[in-house]
Amino acid sequence: MEYGTIPGLDKPISRIVFGTAIRTMMAGESADELLDAAVEAGINAFDTARGYALAERSLGHWLTRRGKRDGLVLITKGCNVGPLGGNRVNRKTILSEMDRSLETLQTDHVDLYLLHRDNPDMEAGEILEILNELKEAGKITCIGVSNWTHQRIQAANEYAAAHGLSPIVASSPHYGLPDQLEDPWGGGCISLSGPDQGPARRWYREHAMPVFAYASLGGGFFSGKFKAGDEAGAKKILTGGLRKSYLRPENMERLRRAEILGEQLGASVSEIALAWVLRQNLDVYALVGASSPARIQSNCRALEIPLSEAQCQWLDLERDEP
Ligand SMILES: NC(=O)c1ccc[n+]([C@@H]2O[C@H](COP(=O)([O-])OP(=O)(O)OC[C@H]3O[C@@H](n4cnc5c(N)ncnc54)[C@H](OP(=O)(O)O)[C@@H]3O)[C@@H](O)[C@H]2O)c1
Repeated sequence: MEYGTIPGLDKPISRIVFGTAIRTMMAGESADELLDAAVEAGINAFDTARGYALAERSLGHWLTRRGKRDGLVLITKGCNVGPLGGNRVNRKTILSEMDRSLETLQTDHVDLYLLHRDNPDMEAGEILEILNELKEAGKITCIGVSNWTHQRIQAANEYAAAHGLSPIVASSPHYGLPDQLEDPWGGGCISLSGPDQGPARRWYREHAMPVFAYASLGGGFFSGKFKAGDEAGAKKILTGGLRKSYLRPENMERLRRAEILGEQLGASVSEIALAWVLRQNLDVYALVGASSPARIQSNCRALEIPLSEAQCQWLDLERDEP
């Protein structure tokens, strides 16, 4: 396992982050064995959210049973988009959901707190003031956001610098080999993938902003559960918003290339896709949801796959030859 750090957190963070938006955890079932297997594989970071049905409860159950959480990095998110698409980022909801998260996770603080969405009707500085209150109260160690544009993160951090506040130190957009070509869940999902996001990636590079890349396998597009060109198979795996976002000809071509390279390197397509996202010139942590210890171990193996720059560019359709 490889580890990185983010400003303000005095513990390492595994480059593979366990995503808890999986069926069993969202149903509130015990995931103790799976979470133990993740720790066994070297994963110490766990991403959950108030909006993942009962996933926080399942994670909290494991944390309590485990007893100690010193070496773990707990990430949760608040203010997901409402069921009818309404924006829920406001002072009252941020404060109340934070308390509900701590209660459900059975802990007194989280290491990294992310707002699940932005609210463009609020000033970025006004939102940052509220997140600083949570930090001052000791409920969160680091401030982050998910699905914010880099322009809004910059505005918030300029406000922080001008007002002596703690800035945003991590961001969680979609990022991965599959391009997210439409907003899968509504409410302004933001992606760093694909040819149009070059300026955003440049900003992340220049500001050394850590990327917690969500749906790094495209919600299963790069799971190997269907082959390139198999639209019917893809439709069985990708439901709802995932279909319109990822099931596109250019992603099928990326999948075809991952299959070819995987064959050559003796790796699965999911390992190739994770190796790709972890080998970009960005400070990336890959968030991935997996339902078995074997898959968790496979995801960790991705860190050992030596992809060249040319192979990465070829996988992302930037050149014709690997
Ligand atoms: N901030 C946000 O708005 C946001 C949005 C989406 C997701 N997230 C976070 O990102 C995490 C990951 O996203 P996700 O779970 O939606 O999608 P994902 O990780 O891109 O893909 C999950 C799919 O990949 C499969 N998979 C995982 N490892 C595999 C392996 N080694 N071999 C083959 N298949 C494998 C899983 O299969 P099985 O389930 O069958 O194992 C599942 O079908 C979430 O759990 C959540 O924490 C955040």
